[in-house]
Amino acid sequence: MSESLLRMQPLNIVLAGPPGAGKSAVGRLLGERLNREFVDTDTLVERMAGKPIHQIFEEQGEPAFRQMEIEACRQVAEPADRVIACGGGALMDAGSRILMEAGGTLVCLTGEPEVLLARLGKDGSRPLLAGASPSERLQDLLEARKDTYDSIPAQVDTTSLSVEQVADRLVELPLAKRTVRMTASRPRPGYEVLLGEELISNLSALLEQAKLLPPYVVVSDSNVAPLYEEIIRATLECSFITVPAGENHKSQETLYQLYTTFLDSGVDRSSTVVALGGGVVLDLAGFAAATYMRGIRWAALPTTLLAVVDASLGGKVGINLAEGKNLIGAFHPPGVVLADLSTLATLPEVEARTGLAEMIKAALIGDADLFTSMESGPTWIGRSWIHRAIQLKLTIVDEDPQESGRREALNLGHTFAHALEATSRYRLPHGQAVAIGLLGATRLASALDRCESTLEDRVQEVLLRFGLPVRFSGLDTDRILDAMKQDKKRKQGRSRFVIPIRPGRVESGIEAPEALIRDVVDELREGTP
Ligand SMILES: NC(=O)c1ccc[n+]([C@@H]2O[C@H](COP(=O)([O-])OP(=O)(O)OC[C@H]3O[C@@H](n4cnc5c(N)ncnc54)[C@H](O)[C@@H]3O)[C@@H](O)[C@H]2O)c1
Ligand SMILES: [Zn+2]
Repeated sequence: MSESLLRMQPLNIVLAGPPGAGKSAVGRLLGERLNREFVDTDTLVERMAGKPIHQIFEEQGEPAFRQMEIEACRQVAEPADRVIACGGGALMDAGSRILMEAGGTLVCLTGEPEVLLARLGKDGSRPLLAGASPSERLQDLLEARKDTYDSIPAQVDTTSLSVEQVADRLVELPLAKRTVRMTASRPRPGYEVLLGEELISNLSALLEQAKLLPPYVVVSDSNVAPLYEEIIRATLECSFITVPAGENHKSQETLYQLYTTFLDSGVDRSSTVVALGGGVVLDLAGFAAATYMRGIRWAALPTTLLAVVDASLGGKVGINLAEGKNLIGAFHPPGVVLADLSTLATLPEVEARTGLAEMIKAALIGDADLFTSMESGPTWIGRSWIHRAIQLKLTIVDEDPQESGRREALNLGHTFAHALEATSRYRLPHGQAVAIGLLGATRLASALDRCESTLEDRVQEVLLRFGLPVRFSGLDTDRILDAMKQDKKRKQGRSRFVIPIRPGRVESGIEAPEALIRDVVDELREGTP
């Protein structure tokens, strides 16, 4: 997997919090203890400006300082095993926050206001506290930043601790490797989604925590199984089934092979199926679990970015028929989703880009901050983006577990994408088709005068920024339109599109005249501006 696109490790440790909490002193000591580089964004800003912070405030004002602070965050946020002391207000900027979280773990150092004040003493270099009543100024500042500080999951109260003691605490926190827990409440029964590392090596305990009990049968594919079979067998007593990799094996034949192997291995109603792989394995093994003996429990262990941010969430499972994709299926949520990010290290680049296309889709559907961060933030994918994309999908499926309304939004770009994929006889990878489809949907919105005027350019720029295609070549427009009609026949209706209105907002169920759709398809052909 290209180092440039997916960056999960090593992580920075980012210290945030109010002035006087000890970010710089603790950060310096922690850097020494962990043998990591220590950087202080305030120092970077001073270096950038060639003058101390109070002078920047006096001569250029706070907005200029904030701009420099954003620039400093950009310079250090990339995951690189640093300890970063992050200026007290820096994370108030949503872009900087996302950036810092993408490359590191945030820890908020807090403290009682009196103690913070005492520590700051008569430090005249704090322009935000300068003036007649530093105590009132500090209260105001704490009030204004409360939500930002409170929203950081890891907190260390430094009130009665020395710098050494705070550093001790931080060394103990499992910061470099952390697991985020999210909950999907629907489709019922709900399940937990764990995003982190060392999940596969702790599989046995994690399955038990989720009340998924033995006997276990692990299903994986021929690419993924060789990478993890040994590790899994070391932690879990299980039978292990390997199916051939690839979308064409999400089929009746493979499904029946699974059923027979389940029977041969004594899988019964008390068993748990553990699906380890990309969306193909999850859909297939999840559907086998949904139907075998009227349904048994299963766990989803996604190993592709697409499966982490999309296919493992929402409880849909199924297989393809020769007549079309995903025609047989069920809603059968897993008992737990264990997304072990370290598995993504071996993911081929083309697969990482497929996942990325779905993440851009997620941002357009419901996360404007994520979209902005993708426009101007890192050019690599970090955990906070993955985290946000998962949350977005969970929110949508929670609102509409059975896909009767809101969930349609997740189809953004997919009406075009499916038609392009089918017309190319699936030579065009899904992610590339989705990328072109996202631009198609935006062009359509633009032609219908429904979206912000700059949106088309913005979507195109983001796709290009991440090396995704925005044009197809060599396919016939009539055949693409036919493929859309086939798709719509199966859905017993007209082609209805999801269109973006602005980042973070889409509208579903949009119909458009065929001539217009034809124009949009033609404009997506290589060679058109
Ligand atoms: N159920 C849902 O809600 C849902 C949502 C989206 C997509 N899907 C389904 O997901 C499928 C696509 O999933 P996908 O993109 O993950 O494809 P995939 O499962 O075919 O995986 C892509 C390729 O990567 C390999 N692979 C997987 N993990 C790897 C790893 N860690 N290292 C190296 N190679 C690895 C696989 O063997 C395969 O060759 C489609 O069938 C689609 O219909 C389902
Ligand atoms: Zn998709």
